[in-house]
Amino acid sequence: MKKIVSKISKGLKGIVTIPADKSISHRAILFTSLANGQSIIKNFSKGQDPLSSLKVCKALGTNAEFSNEELIVKSNGKLSAPQIPLDCGNSGTTMRLISGILAGQNFDSTLVGDESLSKRPMKRVIEPLSLMGAKIESNEFKAPLKIYGKELSPINYTSKLASAQVKSCILLAGLNIEGKTSFTEPYISRNHTEIMLKYMGANISVNNTTVTIEKSNLIPKTIEICGDISSAAYFIVAGLIVPNSKIILKNVGLNPTRTGILEVTEKMGGNIEILDKRNISGEDVGDIQVSYSDLNSCTIEGEIIPRLIDELPVIAVLATQAKGTTVIKDAQDLRNKESDRIKAVVSELKKIGADIEETRDGFIINGKKNLNGNKEVETYHDHRLAMSLYVAGLICEKPISINGFEWVDISFPEFDKLFTSLSL
Ligand code: S3P
Repeated sequence: MKKIVSKISKGLKGIVTIPADKSISHRAILFTSLANGQSIIKNFSKGQDPLSSLKVCKALGTNAEFSNEELIVKSNGKLSAPQIPLDCGNSGTTMRLISGILAGQNFDSTLVGDESLSKRPMKRVIEPLSLMGAKIESNEFKAPLKIYGKELSPINYTSKLASAQVKSCILLAGLNIEGKTSFTEPYISRNHTEIMLKYMGANISVNNTTVTIEKSNLIPKTIEICGDISSAAYFIVAGLIVPNSKIILKNVGLNPTRTGILEVTEKMGGNIEILDKRNISGEDVGDIQVSYSDLNSCTIEGEIIPRLIDELPVIAVLATQAKGTTVIKDAQDLRNKESDRIKAVVSELKKIGADIEETRDGFIINGKKNLNGNKEVETYHDHRLAMSLYVAGLICEKPISINGFEWVDISFPEFDKLFTSLSL
């Protein structure tokens, strides 16, 4: 699907409620499937990725149905052998997290994914799981994965990568094993797994960047899911760069392991205020007010990278409108996302007039630059590319045409409707 996006001159104005967090939605359905009894998930994401996790859990015997916007999950706390290959669609989170659960079951299973997911690296989970005694066959460390269920042993694993998906995979394997399993990462990555497992009664503790878990029975719970800061990011950037804008984003998750974008925008001089900070199901939440701002460049590197990894494509758009040279480093894992996001962002932003260069592990962006637009751009089957280019289109002199815009549905089917509501 082609989407034409044109300049907005009179600014974005109004209030939007940000839809449910994708990462938390995945965890909610996976973990309640492991709890014996009935759980209720309020505000489960409508994105295709969390729906892939839901489909996989159903194929493993979980009874889960929507009733008045709530997802009612009934489980006996045990999974059953699937009759079909488990289709993770486009979702790396589904495949990597469920691998940790399936490796220790008393049945075998096969995980498959779409074309993009089948090209993504799975060695990062196969390697530590194998050290725990797992038997997994793959296509040169890529999907499809054939998992032979086995009794696993605990492990103390130190990861070179700060990755919430790898961390969660190992913790979920450890949840089902006698003894202590621990995972250490170089910097803290998103900690929704730790928060939710604790909320559901697991024996889990955190010391700096090490998380330790022991065999635990999860208690069924009511889980309310907050809005996704990674979805809010497109509105934050648009509010900052579209002249005359003033918007409020309601119900946004503000977990400190996710708020790197707010630290960066503050450093760049963005006019952002947090209103009504609260806590929902163990997660910090608030409303964010954003106004058009004069921005300066900055350097983004090191420990902050895992706390804004998914926001980097739209932060690159932001940097085109900041005075000076913005340098983004240490983000080489962007090349392993739904597309090679370093290559894709550079090639498409260049087409519409940005001054941006690719480096091995990030970008160098010179601003402030008027974007001409007047071009067709590609999404590379990547939802975050599609949404970042849309935001860029709002400030281009001439309209841009985005090919493959339907990929937005992977995480944010309400995206276009919500943006349109702010420009009426
Ligand atoms: C996610 C973790 C991140 C992120 C992805 C979702 C999660 O990946 O990029 O979109 O829900 O755990 P990595 O853990 O591989 O960095």
